[in-house]
Amino acid sequence: MARLLPIPLARPTIISVLLFFSFLLPSFAGKSGSFVRSIPHEDLGIKEKLSTFRLYWHDFVSGRNPTSVPVTKPRIKSTTLFGMVNMIDDPITEGPEFSSKLVGRAQGFYASASQEQIALLMAMNFAFMEGKYNGSTITVLGRNTVFSKVREMPVIGGTGAFRFARGYVEARTHSLDVNTGDAIVQYTFYVKHY
Ligand SMILES: *[C@@H]1O[C@H](CO)[C@@H](O)[C@H](O)[C@H]1NC(C)=O
Repeated sequence: MARLLPIPLARPTIISVLLFFSFLLPSFAGKSGSFVRSIPHEDLGIKEKLSTFRLYWHDFVSGRNPTSVPVTKPRIKSTTLFGMVNMIDDPITEGPEFSSKLVGRAQGFYASASQEQIALLMAMNFAFMEGKYNGSTITVLGRNTVFSKVREMPVIGGTGAFRFARGYVEARTHSLDVNTGDAIVQYTFYVKHY
Protein backbone atom coordinates (compact mmCIF):
# COMPACT_ATOMS: atom_id res chain seq x y z
CA MET A 1 0.00 0.00 0.00
CA ALA A 2 1.43 3.35 -1.03
CA ARG A 3 2.05 5.69 1.86
CA LEU A 4 1.28 9.33 1.27
CA LEU A 5 3.43 11.98 2.84
CA PRO A 6 1.55 13.60 5.70
CA ILE A 7 0.35 17.12 4.71
CA PRO A 8 1.98 18.97 7.63
CA LEU A 9 5.36 17.71 6.48
CA ALA A 10 4.92 18.40 2.74
CA ARG A 11 3.58 21.94 3.13
CA PRO A 12 6.61 23.58 4.75
CA THR A 13 8.79 22.18 1.95
CA ILE A 14 6.67 23.73 -0.82
CA ILE A 15 6.34 27.00 1.06
CA SER A 16 10.06 27.28 1.64
CA VAL A 17 10.75 26.62 -2.06
CA LEU A 18 8.21 29.31 -3.03
CA LEU A 19 9.71 31.74 -0.54
CA PHE A 20 13.17 31.13 -1.87
CA PHE A 21 12.17 32.00 -5.47
CA SER A 22 9.77 34.79 -4.58
CA PHE A 23 12.52 37.01 -3.23
CA LEU A 24 14.50 36.47 -6.44
CA LEU A 25 11.62 37.22 -8.81
CA PRO A 26 11.14 40.99 -8.35
CA SER A 27 14.79 41.85 -9.11
CA PHE A 28 14.77 39.81 -12.36
CA ALA A 29 11.43 41.22 -13.48
CA GLY A 30 12.69 44.76 -12.94
CA LYS A 31 9.36 45.87 -11.49
CA SER A 32 8.84 48.12 -8.50
CA GLY A 33 11.21 47.73 -5.61
CA SER A 34 14.25 47.47 -7.87
CA PHE A 35 16.49 50.21 -9.23
CA VAL A 36 16.59 48.48 -12.65
CA ARG A 37 13.67 49.07 -14.99
CA SER A 38 13.12 47.58 -18.42
CA ILE A 39 12.07 49.88 -21.26
CA PRO A 40 10.78 49.06 -24.76
CA HIS A 41 13.41 49.20 -27.50
CA GLU A 42 11.42 51.96 -29.25
CA ASP A 43 12.06 54.25 -26.26
CA LEU A 44 15.58 54.82 -27.57
CA GLY A 45 13.89 56.44 -30.56
CA ILE A 46 16.18 54.73 -33.06
CA LYS A 47 16.71 51.34 -34.66
CA GLU A 48 19.72 49.08 -34.61
CA LYS A 49 22.06 49.68 -37.56
CA LEU A 50 24.89 47.67 -39.03
CA SER A 51 27.69 49.90 -40.32
CA THR A 52 31.01 49.30 -42.00
CA PHE A 53 33.78 51.82 -42.59
CA ARG A 54 37.45 51.80 -43.47
CA LEU A 55 39.92 54.19 -41.85
CA TYR A 56 43.68 54.60 -41.53
CA TRP A 57 45.57 54.68 -38.24
CA HIS A 58 48.88 56.57 -38.18
CA ASP A 59 51.35 55.52 -35.49
CA PHE A 60 54.25 57.98 -35.33
CA VAL A 61 56.92 56.59 -33.02
CA SER A 62 59.73 58.77 -34.39
CA GLY A 63 60.12 62.45 -35.13
CA ARG A 64 59.71 65.57 -33.03
CA ASN A 65 56.01 65.05 -32.35
CA PRO A 66 55.49 61.32 -31.82
CA THR A 67 51.87 60.22 -31.36
CA SER A 68 53.02 56.97 -29.75
CA VAL A 69 55.30 57.20 -26.72
CA PRO A 70 56.76 54.48 -24.48
CA VAL A 71 55.38 54.48 -20.94
CA THR A 72 57.74 51.96 -19.45
CA LYS A 73 60.95 50.27 -20.39
CA PRO A 74 60.68 46.50 -19.86
CA ARG A 75 62.89 45.38 -16.99
CA ILE A 76 64.02 42.37 -19.00
CA LYS A 77 65.41 42.05 -22.52
CA SER A 78 62.91 40.29 -24.78
CA THR A 79 62.87 39.66 -28.51
CA THR A 80 59.09 40.12 -28.45
CA LEU A 81 59.38 43.40 -26.47
CA PHE A 82 57.33 41.69 -23.75
CA GLY A 83 56.34 44.31 -21.18
CA MET A 84 56.56 47.32 -23.50
CA VAL A 85 53.68 49.79 -23.14
CA ASN A 86 53.06 52.73 -25.50
CA MET A 87 50.49 55.45 -24.95
CA ILE A 88 48.97 56.64 -28.20
CA ASP A 89 47.06 59.60 -29.58
CA ASP A 90 47.15 58.46 -33.20
CA PRO A 91 45.52 60.44 -36.02
CA ILE A 92 42.78 58.61 -37.93
CA THR A 93 42.31 59.60 -41.57
CA GLU A 94 39.95 58.69 -44.37
CA GLY A 95 42.70 57.64 -46.75
CA PRO A 96 46.14 56.08 -46.32
CA GLU A 97 47.91 59.42 -46.94
CA PHE A 98 48.42 61.49 -43.81
CA SER A 99 47.29 64.51 -45.85
CA SER A 100 43.83 62.96 -46.35
CA LYS A 101 40.88 64.06 -44.22
CA LEU A 102 41.37 63.72 -40.45
CA VAL A 103 38.27 62.07 -38.97
CA GLY A 104 39.40 61.43 -35.41
CA ARG A 105 42.07 60.06 -33.11
CA ALA A 106 42.77 56.65 -31.60
CA GLN A 107 43.58 57.27 -27.95
CA GLY A 108 44.73 54.60 -25.53
CA PHE A 109 47.66 52.26 -25.34
CA TYR A 110 49.16 49.12 -26.77
CA ALA A 111 51.26 46.71 -24.78
CA SER A 112 53.41 43.78 -25.78
CA ALA A 113 51.69 40.88 -24.07
CA SER A 114 53.38 37.77 -25.45
CA GLN A 115 56.68 36.06 -24.64
CA GLU A 116 56.49 33.91 -27.78
CA GLN A 117 55.67 36.30 -30.61
CA ILE A 118 54.89 39.98 -31.18
CA ALA A 119 51.30 40.14 -29.96
CA LEU A 120 49.99 43.42 -28.63
CA LEU A 121 47.11 44.08 -26.32
CA MET A 122 45.32 47.04 -27.94
CA ALA A 123 43.08 49.23 -25.77
CA MET A 124 41.86 52.23 -27.73
CA ASN A 125 39.01 54.68 -27.97
CA PHE A 126 38.44 55.91 -31.50
CA ALA A 127 37.31 59.48 -30.83
CA PHE A 128 35.57 60.84 -33.92
CA MET A 129 35.72 64.55 -34.79
CA GLU A 130 33.98 64.70 -38.11
CA GLY A 131 30.43 65.58 -39.18
CA LYS A 132 27.61 63.76 -37.44
CA TYR A 133 30.09 61.46 -35.72
CA ASN A 134 31.86 64.36 -34.00
CA GLY A 135 32.04 63.53 -30.30
CA SER A 136 31.12 59.86 -30.72
CA THR A 137 33.51 57.09 -29.74
CA ILE A 138 34.16 53.42 -30.44
CA THR A 139 36.16 51.24 -28.09
CA VAL A 140 38.45 48.50 -29.41
CA LEU A 141 40.04 45.99 -27.06
CA GLY A 142 41.87 43.07 -28.57
CA ARG A 143 44.92 41.08 -29.55
CA ASN A 144 47.08 42.35 -32.38
CA THR A 145 49.72 40.03 -33.83
CA VAL A 146 51.22 42.87 -35.86
CA PHE A 147 53.04 40.67 -38.38
CA SER A 148 49.91 38.73 -39.40
CA LYS A 149 48.25 39.83 -42.62
CA VAL A 150 44.84 40.39 -40.99
CA ARG A 151 44.26 40.90 -37.28
CA GLU A 152 40.73 40.77 -35.96
CA MET A 153 39.85 42.64 -32.79
CA PRO A 154 36.56 43.08 -30.95
CA VAL A 155 34.66 46.35 -30.85
CA ILE A 156 33.35 46.30 -27.30
CA GLY A 157 31.34 49.49 -27.04
CA GLY A 158 30.70 53.03 -28.07
CA THR A 159 29.05 56.35 -27.29
CA GLY A 160 26.96 58.91 -29.18
CA ALA A 161 26.21 57.65 -32.69
CA PHE A 162 27.83 54.36 -31.68
CA ARG A 163 25.83 53.60 -28.53
CA PHE A 164 25.59 49.86 -27.84
CA ALA A 165 28.35 49.29 -30.42
CA ARG A 166 29.48 45.71 -30.79
CA GLY A 167 31.29 44.05 -33.62
CA TYR A 168 34.79 43.63 -34.86
CA VAL A 169 37.55 45.38 -36.74
CA GLU A 170 40.09 43.98 -39.19
CA ALA A 171 43.53 45.57 -39.13
CA ARG A 172 45.89 45.30 -42.08
CA THR A 173 49.29 46.97 -42.19
CA HIS A 174 49.40 49.49 -45.03
CA SER A 175 53.02 50.50 -44.52
CA LEU A 176 55.73 50.05 -41.93
CA ASP A 177 59.02 51.92 -41.80
CA VAL A 178 61.38 49.36 -40.26
CA ASN A 179 63.99 52.04 -39.47
CA THR A 180 61.73 54.38 -37.52
CA GLY A 181 58.93 52.02 -36.47
CA ASP A 182 56.31 54.40 -37.88
CA ALA A 183 53.29 52.54 -39.24
CA ILE A 184 50.09 53.15 -41.15
CA VAL A 185 47.39 50.52 -40.55
CA GLN A 186 44.09 50.10 -42.33
CA TYR A 187 41.16 49.46 -39.96
CA THR A 188 37.94 48.03 -41.41
CA PHE A 189 35.06 48.12 -38.93
CA TYR A 190 31.85 46.06 -38.88
CA VAL A 191 29.70 47.44 -36.11
CA LYS A 192 26.13 47.04 -34.89
CA HIS A 193 24.93 50.12 -33.03
CA TYR A 194 21.91 52.32 -32.39
C1 LIG B 1 33.30 68.98 -33.20
O1 LIG B 1 32.70 69.34 -31.98
C2 LIG B 1 33.46 70.30 -31.25
C3 LIG B 1 32.81 70.48 -29.88
O2 LIG B 1 31.42 70.55 -29.99
C4 LIG B 1 33.57 71.58 -32.05
O3 LIG B 1 34.33 72.54 -31.34
C5 LIG B 1 34.23 71.28 -33.38
O4 LIG B 1 34.25 72.44 -34.19
C6 LIG B 1 33.49 70.17 -34.11
N1 LIG B 1 34.26 69.78 -35.28
C7 LIG B 1 33.73 69.55 -36.47
C8 LIG B 1 34.67 69.18 -37.56
O5 LIG B 1 32.53 69.66 -36.70
